[in-house]
Amino acid sequence: MLHQITLAATLAAAVLPSSVSAGPLSSPKRGLVFTPNDTTRADDSIWIEKPSSITWYYNYEPEPEPDYAKISQSELEFVPMLWGAPSKLDDTSFLTNVKNQIKNGRKITNVLSFNEPDGPYSWGGSNMDVVTAAEVWVNNIEPLREMGLRVGLPACTGAPTGINWLRNFLKACSERISESGQTKNCTYDFVTLHWYGNFDGLASHMGTYSAEFPNKTMWITEYNLADESLANTQAFYNISAEYFDRLDFVERYSLFGAFRSDASNVGPNAAMLNKNGQLTDIGAWYLGRQGTGIIPTGKSGAYLSTAPQVSAALLVALSVLALVS
Ligand SMILES: *[C@@H]1O[C@H](CO)[C@@H](O)[C@H](O)[C@H]1NC(C)=O
Ligand SMILES: *[C@@H]1O[C@H](CO)[C@@H](O)[C@H](O)[C@H]1NC(C)=O
Ligand SMILES: *[C@@H]1O[C@H](CO)[C@@H](O)[C@H](O)[C@H]1NC(C)=O
Ligand SMILES: *[C@@H]1O[C@H](CO)[C@@H](O)[C@H](O)[C@H]1NC(C)=O
Repeated sequence: MLHQITLAATLAAAVLPSSVSAGPLSSPKRGLVFTPNDTTRADDSIWIEKPSSITWYYNYEPEPEPDYAKISQSELEFVPMLWGAPSKLDDTSFLTNVKNQIKNGRKITNVLSFNEPDGPYSWGGSNMDVVTAAEVWVNNIEPLREMGLRVGLPACTGAPTGINWLRNFLKACSERISESGQTKNCTYDFVTLHWYGNFDGLASHMGTYSAEFPNKTMWITEYNLADESLANTQAFYNISAEYFDRLDFVERYSLFGAFRSDASNVGPNAAMLNKNGQLTDIGAWYLGRQGTGIIPTGKSGAYLSTAPQVSAALLVALSVLALVS
C-alpha cells in the first residue's frame, strides 16, 4: 500500500504542475521494433546512430538485419523471433538457425515467439490455432529454453481474446508434452504484450496480464496511441514511458513507430520520423535526445494539435496503480 501511495504521489507530482509532463529521456529498457521500408532504406542508420538509448531490437525474423549484422549483442542486443507456423509442422529450422547463430558467436540470450497468433493475416497476425502453435513451440522453443535461453510467451493482440488464446495454448502445449511421455508444462520467462489505444487501456491491459500471469516480467513489444492529435500522442508517449520505467516488472518496451509519418499505419503523429525521414519529437525523445520540434505530417497534411487532457490522464494513472500493484 505504501508503495502504491509513493508511486501515485510521484506520478501526480510529475503530471500536476503544468500542462505537460516531461518523459524520461533515456532508459535501459528501450528497444527498436525494426520495420524497414525498401523505398527508404537510408533511414535504417538513424536507429543505430549515437547517442541512443536503444539497447535491443527485433525485426520479426530469426536473424539480424543485414545492415546491423556486424553490431555485437552487447552494443545492440538482437532478439530473434519465431513469427508464426512454418509450412511443415515438424520444421525445426528456427531452432537450428538460433543454435547456429550461437555457435558462430552471437550471444543470443532472449527469444520472442509468435506474433499476434490470435489475429488474422490481414491485420499482420500469424493466425494460429493453439494445437499448431503448441507443436511448433515444443519443436523449436522448448529446446532453446532447455539450453538456458529466456523465452517470451506469444504476443497476442490487445483484444480481449488474447488471454483466452494464451490459456488454451498453454493447455494444448502441456498436453502435447505429456503425449511425449514427459510430465512438465510449457514454460516461459516473460510475457509479451501489444497495445494500441490510450494510457488508461494500456495500464488496464497490463493489469489483466499481471493477474493472469503472476510474478512474470513483461515486455511491451508493440504499443502506441494510433490516429490521435499530436499533443495527445506526445502526452501518451511521455506518460507510458514514465510508467514502464517506474515499474520493476516491466523489463523492456518497444514503441511501434520507427517509420516515416506518411507511411505510418498508426497515424502520422505516432511516427518517429516525419515524411522526410527526420526525427520527430517522439523519435528524438525515444532515442534519449532533446526534442526536435519537427512536426510529422501524413499524406494529406498535419493532424490538428489539441491540448492534452491532463486531469483525465492523472485520474486514469491513479486508478490504474491499484490494478497493477
Ligand atoms: C514530454 O516530455 C518531453 C521531455 O522528455 C517534454 O519536453 C514535453 O514537453 C513532454 N510533452 C508532454 C505533452 O507531456
Ligand atoms: C502444470 O500446470 C497446471 C496448471 O497450472 C498445474 O496444475 C500443474 O501442477 C503443472 N504441472 C507441472 C508438472 O508443473
Ligand atoms: C511470487 O513471488 C513471490 C516472491 O518470490 C512468492 O513468495 C510468491 O509465492 C509468488 N507468487 C506466485 C503466485 O507464484
Ligand atoms: C514505404 O515508404 C513510402 C514512402 O514514404 C510509402 O509511400 C509507402 O507506403 C511505404 N510502404 C509501406 C509498405 O509502408
